[in-house]
Amino acid sequence: MSGYFDLHCHYVPGVDDGVRSLEDSLALLRALRGLGFETVVATPHMRPALWDNRAAPLRAAFEGVREAVETARAGGDSLPAIELSAEHFLDEVVYGRLLKGEGLPYRAGRSMLVEFAYESLPVNLPARFFDLRMKRLRPVVAHPERYEAFWKKPVAAAETMRRAGGVLLLDVAALVGKYGRKAMDCAQTLLEAGAYYAACTDSHAPSDVPVMGEALTRLRALTDEDEVDRLFRRGPREILEGRIFDDFD
Ligand SMILES: [Fe+2]
Repeated sequence: MSGYFDLHCHYVPGVDDGVRSLEDSLALLRALRGLGFETVVATPHMRPALWDNRAAPLRAAFEGVREAVETARAGGDSLPAIELSAEHFLDEVVYGRLLKGEGLPYRAGRSMLVEFAYESLPVNLPARFFDLRMKRLRPVVAHPERYEAFWKKPVAAAETMRRAGGVLLLDVAALVGKYGRKAMDCAQTLLEAGAYYAACTDSHAPSDVPVMGEALTRLRALTDEDEVDRLFRRGPREILEGRIFDDFD
């Protein structure tokens, strides 16, 4: 299979806990291409106090990757198309930046990847999502299966998130236990309930890719080829192109 999109990947070197060098950036992209990914979106962390990346330096760092990719392609390397967005940690600071247009949304400028602390979701999350939606920005929730608030009643938590206007992005490696038993069980329950809008790899290094291969095999065993196509091709494309419509749009 091919033509997949990966909406969440850390291959901009030296800006967060992702790859450390351009060589590893190319190695990661090459390996994902080998799994069928034809477009891989870079989503470096934008997370104050930990990796406080702003949009402009991330754009500059991404240009370095783009040049390396173009040079490698000219030499015959098979690499996916690349795009830049960010993984926005939705605290007060980053939320403020998003409202001011200082975030890095996906391609069409209508949706962006968001994450929270694993232990507890922000109490004002529905209000923040509402404000973002009023700005015509759709929150795409990274790895919901890792949040403790999802573990007890995954489907109810997913419904709360959906009502607030967020769409859920499965980290496929959760299906093979990369993040522990609770995240794995939660991911499987949400998958069976059809709660995910799309899936991704959230890869941080070339060494992550064999696990992603196992995870894709597991996903195919749990669902069917049409569902894999929805999660890795149709859903991501709608997110990138800003084609998720509802009452706000
Ligand atoms: Fe991530």
